[in-house]
Amino acid sequence: MSETGPLVEVLHGVNLDQLGRRDPEQYGSLTLAQLEARIAQEAEGLGLRVGFFQSNHEGDFVERLHALRGRADGLILNPGAWTHYAWALRDALEIADLPAVEVHLSDVQAREQWRHVSVIGELCFATVSGRGPDGYGEALGLLRGRLGAGEAGSA
Ligand code: DQA
Repeated sequence: MSETGPLVEVLHGVNLDQLGRRDPEQYGSLTLAQLEARIAQEAEGLGLRVGFFQSNHEGDFVERLHALRGRADGLILNPGAWTHYAWALRDALEIADLPAVEVHLSDVQAREQWRHVSVIGELCFATVSGRGPDGYGEALGLLRGRLGAGEAGSA
């Protein structure tokens, strides 16, 4: 892992620990560990430090966002189904006050109506949806551009 450079935390929410068992048509066949390994490699190539977090517990996810304020430089969030209704996540992201990109493996806009709503969308400067694992590389690139060179975080 890169030891210098801006620190990006990649947060996965509910049911994303089940990648590899979930519908591969929507979510692909990588496990979360494999996906994170791929993201870590891409981050390294971009000169970013990266941290990972996953929880199936909304309160833990909220508390992680609280803890990241002032500690990370940017966030990549895939909250899973919470995206569509968990307004406490929106408020926690506002408290975190960090540049953030929303990522979904599947194309949520092409799926059921209830997946079209995102509670965090308005607080994210970009959304990448339907690009599978490549979407995380895109999000890292967007954050890299946003954070600029040499703006290493305090963590
Ligand atoms: C998801 C899309 C959500 O609608 C769904 O509930 C998930 C995964 C995605 O990555 O495509 O759990 O966020």
